[in-house]
Amino acid sequence: MKQIQIINGPNLNLLGTREPTVYGNQTFEEYLVGLKAEFGDIQIDYFQSNVEGALIDKLQEVGFNYHGIILNAGAYTHTSIAIADAIRSITTPVIEVHISNVFKREAFRHHSYLSEACKGCIVGFGMDSYRLAVNAILHFQ
Ligand code: DQA
Repeated sequence: MKQIQIINGPNLNLLGTREPTVYGNQTFEEYLVGLKAEFGDIQIDYFQSNVEGALIDKLQEVGFNYHGIILNAGAYTHTSIAIADAIRSITTPVIEVHISNVFKREAFRHHSYLSEACKGCIVGFGMDSYRLAVNAILHFQ
């Protein structure tokens, strides 16, 4: 069975209540139920942390045997050379996702340290950015 790891970074544990006009009203746990039901023949694991080092630990843990990693590093996207280095250090392809269209937002969100190290990026499709990323992992590599 194919294994896909979703990793969410800081403040994404508050989806559903955090800035609903930007991120919507659904919790990630609610969204995940539908996602797992849609892709019943693959294993989708979920991890969230507000701590940069914990995100790196998880990338290293799954990054040599999973089929793909979907990473929304939240604001660490725009700051973290350490996460970019972790992505470069593993062999599992990483898809960078963002719920909001970061290019329509503040200028500091336009730069990602991670994109260059990732297989590809999916940005701005709401929670369905994750669903598109699962499809990308399954069909485009
Ligand atoms: C985000 C965009 C980031 O700029 C922000 O810091 C987040 C969420 C998104 O999914 O749209 O925490 O990654």
